[in-house]
Amino acid sequence: MASQILRDARKYEEIAEEKIGEEERPAFHLSVRTGWMNDPNGFSFYNGQYHLFYQYYPYRSVWDSMHWGHAISEDLLHWKYFPAALAPDTEYDRDGCFSGSASMFSDGRQLLMYTGVAKETQPDGSTREIQTQCIAIGDGRDYEKYAENPVLTQKDLPEGGDKYNFRDPKIWREEDGTYACVIGNCTGDGDGRILLFRSEDGLCWKFSSILVENQKRFGKMWECPDFFTLDGKYVLLTSPQDMLPKGFEYHNGNGTLCLIGDLEKETGKFVEEANQSIDYGIDFYASQTMLAPDGRRIMIGWMQNWDTCPAHQPERKWFGQMCLPRELSIRDGHLIQQPIRELTAMRSGKVHYENVRIIDLVRLEKIEGRRIDMELHIRPENKEELFRKFAVRFAQDEIYHTAISFRPHESIVKVDRKFSGSRRALIHQRRSLVRTKDGELKLRIILDRFSAEVFINDGEQVMTITFYTPQTAKGISFYADGTALLDVVKYDLI
Ligand code: FRU
Repeated sequence: MASQILRDARKYEEIAEEKIGEEERPAFHLSVRTGWMNDPNGFSFYNGQYHLFYQYYPYRSVWDSMHWGHAISEDLLHWKYFPAALAPDTEYDRDGCFSGSASMFSDGRQLLMYTGVAKETQPDGSTREIQTQCIAIGDGRDYEKYAENPVLTQKDLPEGGDKYNFRDPKIWREEDGTYACVIGNCTGDGDGRILLFRSEDGLCWKFSSILVENQKRFGKMWECPDFFTLDGKYVLLTSPQDMLPKGFEYHNGNGTLCLIGDLEKETGKFVEEANQSIDYGIDFYASQTMLAPDGRRIMIGWMQNWDTCPAHQPERKWFGQMCLPRELSIRDGHLIQQPIRELTAMRSGKVHYENVRIIDLVRLEKIEGRRIDMELHIRPENKEELFRKFAVRFAQDEIYHTAISFRPHESIVKVDRKFSGSRRALIHQRRSLVRTKDGELKLRIILDRFSAEVFINDGEQVMTITFYTPQTAKGISFYADGTALLDVVKYDLI
């Protein structure tokens, strides 16, 4: 039986959702039903449908006591809201049901594992959050919290573990039917590490190993870990807080980190071979993956950034959306991301141009829109004489535009939203080093009303940004300093 707190949330969201027009939301990215959304949770395929839960505060579009929102989909693009799944309604999670993930019992019930938060008063009167791991069991719609919760507490932490930073379990089932999960933690001095736990039945959990330790390299506390095999490698994804930039990597403060390597089975230690950011734009955090029935490893992330949230107006009816689900693979020791292939089914109204000479400013007939899938192939007219800069501006009118530029001499792609409606002194640009030979570059740009995801060179880098400008700003123009040649294929996404 659902608690009063959960029933209140369910009643509220049903009414509040009605007040948000379809046009006021992204069309095929999941946005919050009402109020506030952050991390994706419980991303899974269950009973023939994709399920996505999320960190949720229904009552206002600000972060507050966390519930779990819930939506389902057949194709990861068209989402249907389900009633809120979890609410902060028990002793051990009274201050929030934080991030977690989903798996399944052999008898067909769905298993959710999440972090329960309960505040503890300190001697000086201030409060700190105790974080424990909890289970909820359900049928894909209604969930009951496990009577023995919490299933992991500070007592289960290995030496030196911080009980105030122990969160975001990502669970999976091993081939032998047992369960495993990775959980974010840090040491007393705030240095991130990922812990591996194991369970025979999904309910009774035991510490297994410290999988990875930061050793003060990538930010501080590591949030939202994920761990899986991909193309013969082991991959660890996490979202470190308070990162320091290194070259062109890790500029987002609360950033994203992908470690590629191997697993030493005897010790349960991850052996690192390479590291990179997951996304090189501004709005991407807290990624989570799932294994689709056809074997694809699909990742989704929160398409916002903690540092820029204060720039939104809290009186908005909704805040928070997910990125487009992305298919992951590894090429040459590097993480590759592609928009899920289901997106091609939404393409319509193809417009195609080849070998367009871009000198100064060029507009092309029928190239416009805010819900589009657009592929650009950029190259110099003459390899001996590279253009200095190429740029595409979109979501454009006299006041607004968002831009992507490419400087072949520096191998840099930049996203820029300083003219995308900001009234704040925030960072509006981000740059990424890209691979380019003789000034050639491929971009695939996906717009969905309030966001742009830019897939560079078939997914070698992705740059994601949101912008909340009027939909009437839908122009697109191209620019080159020097002469560039351009092929364009553009579809509307219907
Ligand atoms: C990451 C995060 C998680 C936590 C959740 C709380 O964005 O801070 O670590 O579980 O958000 O909403």
